[in-house]
Amino acid sequence: MDRVLSAILLLQAFFVTTVAQPSPEVQQRIFQAIAGAGNSSEIDYSAFVNPFIGTDNDGNVCPGASIPFGMVKFTTDMTGYAPAGYVADASRFVRGLSPLHDSGTGSSLGTYGNFEILPLLCPGGFESCTTTLLSRQRLRKRNTDDASPGYFSLTLDNNIKMEATATRRAGLERFTFPTGSKPYFVLDLANDLPASFAGGTLDIDPDAGRIKLGGSYGSSFGPGRLNYQVFACYDLLNGGQQTLSEYGVWTGDTFGLDAKGLGQTHLNLTLNLIGGPIYQSGALFSFEPEEEIVIRVGVSFISADQACVNAENETGMSTFEDVLEEARSQWNERLGRIEIDVPNTPPNVTAMLYSSLYRAGLTPNNATGEAQGQFKDTTAYYFDSFYCSWDTFRTFFPLLALHSPVEYAQMVDSYIDGWRKRGWMPECRANNLPGWTQGGSSADNIVSHFAMYYHNEAADLGVDLDELYAALLADGDLNPPEWNIDGRQVNVYKKYGYVPFAVLDVSSTGRQTREGSRTLEYAFEDFGIRQVAQLLGKTDDEARYTNRSLWYRNVWDPEVESDGFKGFMQKRFMNGSFAFTDPANCSPNDRNQSRPCSLQVTNVNGFYESSSWEYSLYAPHDTDYLIHLMGGNETFLKRLDHFFDAGYYLAGNEPSFQTPVGYHYANHPAQSVDRVREVVFDNFGITAIGLPGNDDQAAMATLLAFHLLGLYPVPSTTQLLILSPFTPKYTIHNTYLNTSTTVTVLNFDPESTGKRKIPPGVAAYVKSVTINGEVSVSGRCYVDWYDMFREGGEVVIELTEDREGADDCEGMVPDSLSTGGWAEAR
Ligand SMILES: *[C@@H]1O[C@H](CO)[C@@H](O)[C@H](O)[C@H]1NC(C)=O
Ligand SMILES: *[C@@H]1O[C@H](CO)[C@@H](O)[C@H](O)[C@H]1NC(C)=O
Ligand SMILES: *[C@@H]1O[C@H](CO)[C@@H](O)[C@H](O)[C@H]1NC(C)=O
Ligand SMILES: *[C@@H]1O[C@H](CO)[C@@H](O)[C@H](O)[C@H]1NC(C)=O
Ligand SMILES: *[C@@H]1O[C@H](CO)[C@@H](O)[C@H](O)[C@H]1NC(C)=O
Ligand SMILES: *[C@@H]1O[C@H](CO)[C@@H](O)[C@H](O)[C@H]1NC(C)=O
Ligand SMILES: *[C@@H]1O[C@H](CO)[C@@H](O)[C@H](O)[C@H]1NC(C)=O
Ligand SMILES: *[C@@H]1O[C@H](CO)[C@@H](O)[C@H](O)[C@H]1NC(C)=O
Ligand SMILES: *[C@@H]1O[C@H](CO)[C@@H](O)[C@H](O)[C@H]1NC(C)=O
Ligand SMILES: *[C@@H]1O[C@H](CO)[C@@H](O)[C@H](O)[C@H]1NC(C)=O
Repeated sequence: MDRVLSAILLLQAFFVTTVAQPSPEVQQRIFQAIAGAGNSSEIDYSAFVNPFIGTDNDGNVCPGASIPFGMVKFTTDMTGYAPAGYVADASRFVRGLSPLHDSGTGSSLGTYGNFEILPLLCPGGFESCTTTLLSRQRLRKRNTDDASPGYFSLTLDNNIKMEATATRRAGLERFTFPTGSKPYFVLDLANDLPASFAGGTLDIDPDAGRIKLGGSYGSSFGPGRLNYQVFACYDLLNGGQQTLSEYGVWTGDTFGLDAKGLGQTHLNLTLNLIGGPIYQSGALFSFEPEEEIVIRVGVSFISADQACVNAENETGMSTFEDVLEEARSQWNERLGRIEIDVPNTPPNVTAMLYSSLYRAGLTPNNATGEAQGQFKDTTAYYFDSFYCSWDTFRTFFPLLALHSPVEYAQMVDSYIDGWRKRGWMPECRANNLPGWTQGGSSADNIVSHFAMYYHNEAADLGVDLDELYAALLADGDLNPPEWNIDGRQVNVYKKYGYVPFAVLDVSSTGRQTREGSRTLEYAFEDFGIRQVAQLLGKTDDEARYTNRSLWYRNVWDPEVESDGFKGFMQKRFMNGSFAFTDPANCSPNDRNQSRPCSLQVTNVNGFYESSSWEYSLYAPHDTDYLIHLMGGNETFLKRLDHFFDAGYYLAGNEPSFQTPVGYHYANHPAQSVDRVREVVFDNFGITAIGLPGNDDQAAMATLLAFHLLGLYPVPSTTQLLILSPFTPKYTIHNTYLNTSTTVTVLNFDPESTGKRKIPPGVAAYVKSVTINGEVSVSGRCYVDWYDMFREGGEVVIELTEDREGADDCEGMVPDSLSTGGWAEAR
């Protein structure tokens, strides 16, 4: 999900510059590692990662300690807008360190942040401790925040240092107190980021030095009436090396309640029906004076006992250093699946690429064995936080397809299991609950993309293609009674050929908005189904879904004009008349800052988090016909230029992802190369403000990774557009096929990166593509994954400074359905 528009509007209102809070040493260390790296296979890739990229400017990135796809991501929770807990902004207060977070979601109230712990100095003893959120919050010590893959650290302004490292469902926290102080800790039961506590319990076992707690909390991006359960187990004695002193429980609010029960061990609190969230509660305990305190934490979605087992099984008696070492080695294995020629790559590119690849491995959260509610007791893999598929089908899953079929297959298994349990595949699974749908069932494009790449290996990878296909048909043909959280409103879509505005629907309900963008997304989802139908030889379905995938044309109003361009996507009534919306509405050029553009019931624009200017360029499977609708190649090129130059492009918004490479389809690949350079320069960087908006579960990270590698994927197909890499050489290892493809970029000139415009005379435009010694059969504008990566080998991309000469696909523009594209499955 995306909050980018409100973020943009906020930025227009007042541009905030914050002092970069992460320690300056983080970036220095990264540059030193890059400078010291050779290009052997012994590289420590984790040393190139800056986890703080996207922790400001509403990137909502979680810099917490985690393993790849870990359920646990330890970071601090700050006051103010901070959906991932942490934000770089030094003026925010810290309320504690907590084990569960999502990264890059735009949920306005935040997600997880349960079971926060905060170390305290209570010079006046137990009763004097500041336990409530407001009384305990503190600023940080300036410029000391630190993080690297598997590690997070923050020092409070009272000089208490907090550190954490993680396993999948557990981890260790280490606190260093000023010499001579008595260590106190407050631990939250009720508080989480969205203040959604709906009842729970806490038990202290002073002899075992163990606190078990947990309960029910509310969805962060879904129906507020739905609750999920989560539990934690805090082991306080560090294997007997620490001695508990006092312990007890507390309750509090902001209006004078600040009660503590020394020696009490039990809390059992229900949802407070009147003003619930402001009622706070938890544990308070202290240790005999000790400079360093280590606390072991386990979490579980099943029970507090399971949380303890998870801590015992995964962390056991390992030291902080051992756990960190293991986490780092898991990250290195992941990050090393894409290797580059580090010594010859501009350092900023290396830092951006590996930080992006890192975030591409942070979510979804692997909660296998921890499924709850409708999904519990499943034998399938289980992932929490598919947050959301509308964001991730475009680049996140296509990047996974290049090197990690095993992980991809596990996630597909979890999508299919969602269909088994609910009847439709999840669109947005947030906090183990169904979240809001956005464009319909974008999971269709995710599982079909997998099938396109790995149908030969699907069975070995544990995916049954017939089941996958049945799940697709359910999304495409079965109308759920309520389509806000499942499936799509296909009954009216099938009847009219588009989702009409103000439609009579006698058999299902859902928020009656976004008719234009829902039609466009439904059509592309249908294309995903069509691709699998073709693959499996389901000829009738293939024809039916091919036809449906062209229904994007049904919301094209040829009469609407904007900025001198004619023809725009528009919402449409049942009787066929169009309902006019100014195409600039909800674009960055919309002067009306109070217009609702997202999921609000008052969004009457017809498009989700986008303008018609933006969505009118969206038919990734049939761009050639879109060009035709717009009046041909020349007009299309002018329109694309205007789209960027007049400021309609939104780098941080998913429907805009494909537009910079749109020139390829009008036979001008060099113009795509120029645009991508501009997009990267204007929007991405290596600092906390280095993302154009929220990361959207690494949608942004993976878009940048593709831009840097000079590739762009067409979802639900194996076609990749070829652009100009930002590195002279890279190798992609496929961990399942055991193949490696090395791409060598001839004539690479670092002068072509790090600037908004490629200087004249600098080689940056693709002249030729050679695969294992043969000129690519599909020319220089695109390749098929089966040709370039499936078998592995050596690819040479030759660049030239002759922009004009290279600005032509030599008769081979990428596929569109209407020009006979995707005629056969590979
Ligand atoms: C908490 O209290 C409820 C009644 O309010 C009771 O049903 C439940 O068993 C108690 N749970 C625990 C763990 O004490
Ligand atoms: C914990 O580990 C033990 C021994 O390795 C194993 O038998 C058990 O299944 C594990 N329990 C869980 C819940 O993972
Ligand atoms: C490693 O670096 C050397 C010197 O910079 C370069 O010639 C060579 O091609 C690089 N090898 C790889 C595999 O990137
Ligand atoms: C998820 O966890 C399960 C259980 O530990 C493991 O088998 C699987 O490989 C993990 N998958 C990913 C993508 O982390
Ligand atoms: C395609 O869809 C349209 C509109 O629903 C319908 O009229 C037409 O018959 C369909 N064509 C095929 C080949 O299914
Ligand atoms: C179609 O329906 C809309 C909404 O009821 C109405 O405003 C419009 O005039 C109708 N168009 C025609 C051609 O009847
Ligand atoms: C801005 O949009 C809102 C919601 O559509 C509308 O109520 C308001 O009149 C608009 N303001 C202006 C100045 O157009
Ligand atoms: C755009 O140009 C390409 C290459 O010359 C051509 O194949 C294609 O048909 C043109 N598209 C349109 C819609 O005219
Ligand atoms: C890849 O190599 C591993 C380890 O040697 C082996 O188990 C696996 O079967 C291989 N995969 C394929 C598709 O050959
Ligand atoms: C690298 O990024 C830093 C921080 O954004 C910037 O100041 C510097 O100019 C960049 N260097 C290059 C060569 O682009």
